[in-house]
Amino acid sequence: MNQKILVVDDDPFIREFLLEALSSSGSWAECAGDGISALRLISEKDFDILLTDLRLPGMDGIELLRQVKQIKPGVEVIIMTGYGTVESAVEAIKTGAFHYIEKPVNLELLNSLLEKIRQLKSLYAENRLLKESISKYRKNYGEIIGSSPRMQEVFTALEKVKGKDLPVFIYGESGTGKELVARTIWKESLRADEIFIPVNCGTIVPTIAESELFGHVKGAFTGALKDKKGLFEAANGGTLFLDEVTELPIGIQVKLLRAIEQQKIRRVGDSKERSVNVRLIAATNENPDSSLQNGKLRKDLYFRLNVVSISLPPLREREGDLELLLDHFLKKHGEKRGIGAITEEAMDHLKRYHWPGNIRELEHFVLRALLFRTGEMVGIEDLAIINRGMLSHKGIDLSPPYSLKEKELDLIKAALQKTGGKKKEAATLLGIHPTTLYRKLKALGIEPRSI
Ligand SMILES: Nc1ncnc2c1ncn2[C@@H]1O[C@H](COP(=O)(O)OP(=O)(O)OP(=O)(O)O)[C@@H](O)[C@H]1O
Ligand SMILES: [Mg+2]
Repeated sequence: MNQKILVVDDDPFIREFLLEALSSSGSWAECAGDGISALRLISEKDFDILLTDLRLPGMDGIELLRQVKQIKPGVEVIIMTGYGTVESAVEAIKTGAFHYIEKPVNLELLNSLLEKIRQLKSLYAENRLLKESISKYRKNYGEIIGSSPRMQEVFTALEKVKGKDLPVFIYGESGTGKELVARTIWKESLRADEIFIPVNCGTIVPTIAESELFGHVKGAFTGALKDKKGLFEAANGGTLFLDEVTELPIGIQVKLLRAIEQQKIRRVGDSKERSVNVRLIAATNENPDSSLQNGKLRKDLYFRLNVVSISLPPLREREGDLELLLDHFLKKHGEKRGIGAITEEAMDHLKRYHWPGNIRELEHFVLRALLFRTGEMVGIEDLAIINRGMLSHKGIDLSPPYSLKEKELDLIKAALQKTGGKKKEAATLLGIHPTTLYRKLKALGIEPRSI
C-alpha cells in the first residue's frame, strides 16, 4: 500500500529532493513550506506520515507535531534535525514523534523508517480487527457467564426461546448450570410472574412419585389422611422444572406424557380429571441418547419435552470461560483483584485440570482458595491443599509428615472456624455434602462448637 507523506521544510531544494526521492520509491508525497500550511493540509487530507523539519519559520517542528497529534493522532511523525542535538530529538520522541532523522537525510535510513511505520500500521489494523471479532462474542446472558463459542450457541438458543411457551429439554454434566439456565428461561418467559417449581426427580421415592406429581385424595392409600395437591397443580399457571427427569419410574413417565398432552391430571384415587396449565422444563445429566437406549427415558416423553433442546458444554470445553468465571467468582467472594490474585503458574494448572464438577466445582475451588491460601496470591503451593486432584499428576509432595487425614482435619477445622461452627455452611465451603461432613466429624470425634 502506498503511504501518503507530507514533507515540511522551509528550504525549497530539500522539499524538491525529498519529494522526488519519495515518489520514486513508491510513496505519494506533498509539500509545505511552514507549519501553518502543513496543518491546513493535514486537516484537509488523509496523510499517513508527516516528515517535518525541526526548525521552521513561525511554528517549529515540535509544535507542529503536538498540534498534528491532537487533530490526527493516527498520523506518524518523523522529525528532521539539522543540528543533531540529542535534546530536541528526545523532546520530539516524548511529544509523540515516531522517530527523528538527521540532516542531510540518508534515504536508506528514511526508507527503513517508512517501512517500519507501514508494518506497525498493519499490525494495529490486525489488532483492531481481532478486538472487534472478540467483542462480537457476548460475555454473559443474564447471570450466565461465558464467552466461548459453545456458550454463544446456548445464548442463541435462549434468545430464540425467549417469550415462547414451549417445553425445553436441557442436557449437561453435573454443575454445568442446568438449573441456572432453567431459571433464566423462566425469568424471560410469559410466565415470569408466575411460580417456578424445581423438582429433583432423583429424590422422589418411586412408590409415591405419582402422588407427588399429581396429588391424591383422602384414603387413596394407607397414610393418605387427607386430600393433597401434587406438583402439577401447585405449579398451575407457572413453570415446573423436572430435574433429573430420567430418574422418574417408567410407569410415571407414561402418566407424565398424558398430563402434558391433555393438560389434565388425575389425583391418585380420584375419579375426576382436573385441568392444569403448566410449562415444563426438563433436565438430565445423562446423555439422552444413552437414556433412550437403556430404557430409562421413554422415547415419546422425550420427543414431547425436547421441543427446544439446550446442551450445556462441560467447563473443559468452554474455551476462555475459565478465566472469565474465575474472575467473576473471585470478585463475588471479596477478592478485588479477581483473576489477578492467582499466580500464572497456578493458572496453568487450573487450565489443565479437567473440572469434573464443572462450574459448581470451580466456585467451590474459589471459596476454598480464598480461605486457605498461604500468601497474598493463590499459588501453586496452595492447590494441593485446595484440591488434591489438581496436582495429583504433578509429583508434588503430598506425603507424611503431613498426612491426608491431618490435612482433612485442618481443612474441616478451618472451615468450621470461618463459619462460626455452622456445619451446613462449612460443608458448602469444603465442597462436600452436609451429611458427609457430619460423618467425618463423628469419625474424627470433633464437636463443631468446640472449635
Ligand atoms: N455460566 C455460569 N455462570 C455463572 N455461574 C454459573 C454458570 N453455570 C453455573 N453457574 C453456577 O454454578 C452452580 C451450579 O449450577 P447449577 O446448579 O445450575 O448446575 P446443574 O447443571 O443444575 O448441576 P447438577 O447437575 O449438579 O444439578 C450454581 O451456583 C450456578 O449459579
Ligand atoms: Mg441441578
